Amino acid sequence: MKLMAVIGSPRKGGNTEQLVDRVIAGCRSTAQVEVEKFFVTDKHIEYCNGCLTCTFPPPGTGTCVIKDDMDELLEHIKESDAFIFGTPNYMRTVTPALLNFLARMLPLLTYKVEYDGKGNMIGAEGISKIQDKKAAMVISQGDPFFSSPLVHMVLERNLRDFRLKLAGDVISLGNLDKQSVAERAEDLQKAFELGVKLAIGSGF
Ligand SMILES: Cc1cc2nc3c(=O)[nH]c(=O)nc-3n(C[C@H](O)[C@H](O)[C@H](O)COP(=O)(O)O)c2cc1C
Repeated sequence: MKLMAVIGSPRKGGNTEQLVDRVIAGCRSTAQVEVEKFFVTDKHIEYCNGCLTCTFPPPGTGTCVIKDDMDELLEHIKESDAFIFGTPNYMRTVTPALLNFLARMLPLLTYKVEYDGKGNMIGAEGISKIQDKKAAMVISQGDPFFSSPLVHMVLERNLRDFRLKLAGDVISLGNLDKQSVAERAEDLQKAFELGVKLAIGSGF
């Protein structure tokens, strides 16, 4: 199984990476896994310029006009069987780097558009080039009390838009210091179990 682990935190060895590593360990405990793990901020990924030519007017070109590391990453995404998306909570949502990465994944989507008799668009069904591949979500945040629904919703909704099948999530709270999560045995265990589910689970 080819697993791609996408880390939205810029902090090497931080909470998000530690949790993602436990998910990977869970995968490896039950399956033969080829892992590509990277920090989005280590890649040269320009901001989406909003031209929408990749997807609109439907069917769009299916490629991005910007030439950078994303070309190769999109090919790797298509070749991968499963994904881990990890992000810290930044300003109550996913990190800007991860959000831009998700935006730059738009060439993977095409839309089948429905028109009324007058040619007005009345609906659109998204068709994904990575439909039914599996994904797990990892979120770490500083606030120890309030689990922000927004960061979870933003990540989940986007992954569902790409028609990924979600194996589950780990949300770890109270991780302001870089090493905080190392003390959170329960969260690390949950991450490991999520990895097992990602590798061998089905029907989610
Ligand atoms: C710019 C910035 C914004 C943040 N915003 C929030 C926030 O809105 N809510 C929260 O609970 N933690 C927030 N945090 C704390 C991080 O989510 C937390 O430290 C996380 O565990 C960092 O993960 P990392 O070690 O993988 O980088 C923020 C941290 C930074 C640097």
